[in-house]
Amino acid sequence: MQTCQILGSGHAVPERILTNADLEQMVDTNDEWIVERSGIRQRHIAEPGSSLSDLASAAVNRALKRADTRAEDIDLIIVGTVTGDMKFPAMACLLQEKIGAKKAAAFDISAACSGFLYGLHLARSLMQTCPYQRVLVVAAEMLSSMVNWEDRNTCVLFGDGAGAVVLGPAEGECGILSTTIHSDGHYSKLLYNPAGSQHVLSAEDIASNYATINMQGREVFRHAVASMTGALNEALVQAGLRAADLDFVIPHQANLRIIEAIAKRFKVPHEKLIVNVERFGNTSAASIPIALDEALQNGTINKGDVVGLTTFGAGLTWAASIIRI
Ligand code: ACO
Repeated sequence: MQTCQILGSGHAVPERILTNADLEQMVDTNDEWIVERSGIRQRHIAEPGSSLSDLASAAVNRALKRADTRAEDIDLIIVGTVTGDMKFPAMACLLQEKIGAKKAAAFDISAACSGFLYGLHLARSLMQTCPYQRVLVVAAEMLSSMVNWEDRNTCVLFGDGAGAVVLGPAEGECGILSTTIHSDGHYSKLLYNPAGSQHVLSAEDIASNYATINMQGREVFRHAVASMTGALNEALVQAGLRAADLDFVIPHQANLRIIEAIAKRFKVPHEKLIVNVERFGNTSAASIPIALDEALQNGTINKGDVVGLTTFGAGLTWAASIIRI
């Protein structure tokens, strides 16, 4: 059942670009290794101290304009992020204030890289049960703020960015045809940042990069391929479609090898696969809405196209959705 559709989308990334050559000056790595293992050539990195809610506002204002919607008319704001401006209040509330969405209810979702599709799932469900006419789903991350810039295993992978969509009631054939979300906390230690209420940070912790990303890359890779494949299959079944019905697939942009493994399993040809990981790196929750918005703005994806979205992230969490644009 399609209850809602995307009325407009937008994205924003910081101006500053960090290339693989720049990283060669910072850690023991090289362009060839990074490109071969991940497909990433550059990533956008925010200036220290800059505000993620400002970046998210830029993405949202573009989405609102394209949706021909006023911020005052937004009923609900859902933000997927693990790197909000502050521990509290929620990024969604800070964003609400910045864009002037005075009547909206606003809250965050913590599902790491799955944050956007978790948000879409929740927005779709709430639009079925509440009288919401205009809902903002935003995903914004500044993972650069929690990367250990001395750890070559992780610092080459991530970038900063924000993406947003405005949802309204579905019309005709268009809309979100299905969404599915999953998690398995058993694998929480594969990818985590230990900073939190259990361990109050000391000056030594900060000096020793304690509060940064810990990742078992190989294990995460294995789970990523299996979970993204399973979720996309499930979303296809829910929508009553087959892989061959998809005009485009947008996988979470974590690693080109993961993206290619997904494409192989679904027999998705190169021209149906949306990939921008080489320019943005892994922007976590923001990766899918950034890729979707780019593809909509450059005319790759058009009205009526059926698009499969699939993602995974820390938690572990994973999710998928089928959308008819
Ligand atoms: N430059 C050079 N060498 C490196 C680098 C680097 N940047 N990083 C690691 N290496 C070395 C390792 O030390 C290791 O050396 P050793 O064999 O002497 O010990 C060697 O390269 C191979 O390391 P692996 O970790 O086995 O390499 P792998 O082929 O698995 O690729 C990678 C690593 C790119 C991290 C891959 O495993 C991957 O992409 N995993 C998924 C990660 C991911 O997507 N994380 C995001 C999750 S989403 C979220 O929620 C944020």
